[in-house]
Amino acid sequence: MSGVVGRELRIIGFLCNWCSYGGADSAGVGRFTQPTDLRILRMPCTGRMDPLFALKAFLGGADGVLVSGCHPNDCHYAEGNFFARRRLEVLSRFLPVLGIDPKRFHYTWVSASEGARWQMVVTKFTEQVHELGPIRKLDPELAICAIKAMDQAAAQPGA
Ligand code: FES
Repeated sequence: MSGVVGRELRIIGFLCNWCSYGGADSAGVGRFTQPTDLRILRMPCTGRMDPLFALKAFLGGADGVLVSGCHPNDCHYAEGNFFARRRLEVLSRFLPVLGIDPKRFHYTWVSASEGARWQMVVTKFTEQVHELGPIRKLDPELAICAIKAMDQAAAQPGA
């Protein structure tokens, strides 16, 4: 059962294998109490995080999406999290176009040794999503338009 009061919501977490997944594991090993709304997807690096993954999660009914990777300059692939940060910033600016409150999306950095930080990040984000409540169904056509616009914006030099 969730530590957050009310109905359990669906929050999808995209975690890099090397840091944040380890941090989540450390939190589990350390028996830190966490909300149970989060479903974790492990990826090799946040550099693999395509913003479309998050949009697909929202279109599929996710109430929140959390992305977490290694701290800047700690990425095991050198610059993956810098690429991710750039893409995820663009994504967070486009969420309102889709009618999605940007508070439903969060990206952060948690290392494998930061179990306590992981607990804090998950608890705070879950509480934030619970304040917003369940997401309303998205218009798929509007989503496709926003995705195209986001692709164009990401392709702009200096974006
Ligand atoms: Fe963790 Fe790149 S390996 S963000």
